Amino acid sequence: MKVVMLGAPGAGKGTQAKKIAAKYDIPHISTGDIFRANLKNGTELGKKAKVYMDQGALVPDELTLELIMDRFKNDDCKNGYVLDGFPRTIPQAEALTKALAAEGQKLDIAIDVEVSDERIVKRMGGRRACPNCGMTYHIETLKPQKEGICDKCGTELIVRDDDKPETVLKRLSVYHEQTQPLIEYYANEKILLTVDGTKDADVVFSEIVEALK
Ligand code: AP5
Repeated sequence: MKVVMLGAPGAGKGTQAKKIAAKYDIPHISTGDIFRANLKNGTELGKKAKVYMDQGALVPDELTLELIMDRFKNDDCKNGYVLDGFPRTIPQAEALTKALAAEGQKLDIAIDVEVSDERIVKRMGGRRACPNCGMTYHIETLKPQKEGICDKCGTELIVRDDDKPETVLKRLSVYHEQTQPLIEYYANEKILLTVDGTKDADVVFSEIVEALK
């Protein structure tokens, strides 16, 4: 199964993508997580990406496409994947459609997690992320079992650099300008599912599972 997650920054794409990956035993591929891992490891790609990420801008398509096409070659992708944060521009979506078509394949579903900008700004202030495994939590709505510690790997949780309020606003404006048009793109492809991301995360997930049946 090949799934694309759509939605504004902080809508809950990562939260749902991890649940889908676990239930259907497919890899969760987050371009944001891959960029952050490169940044942490001080790679050339990480250094290049940091300049854009810190400003709330998108990393250029060439860099992102190279990275994702390389990731698809991994063995774990043979039964599909859930893409979180990719594609993020029309050229990225077109490149994905073309790459899949070349293999005689196509996406099964694009899931748009809808949340208003106002709600997102509130959410981002409370997000805590694991710098080791990428799990995300919220100080009020999705608390870890032990405060400040990742349930999955025991690492101390952090506030992401790009979750500062001014960067969140910039990311939202970049989303509306460059990524939101993908909703129409996948609606035209007849594979769009829209879910209400303001509901409880488990309720959102049940709706996704129902649609995937
Ligand atoms: P990326 O890491 O993809 O960031 P994003 O799209 O901005 O998404 P987030 O990870 O911030 O949010 P999310 O929707 O996954 O929400 P989450 O589940 O954590 O990208 C970062 C940067 O990398 C970009 O800005 C760009 O520079 C670069 N980049 C990445 N991909 C790129 C690409 N393809 N092209 C170019 N550049 C690229 O949830 C948010 C919070 O809400 C959490 O605290 C969570 O616990 C909570 N929450 C989740 N669901 C619920 C719920 N239902 N109710 C209440 N709280 C909830």
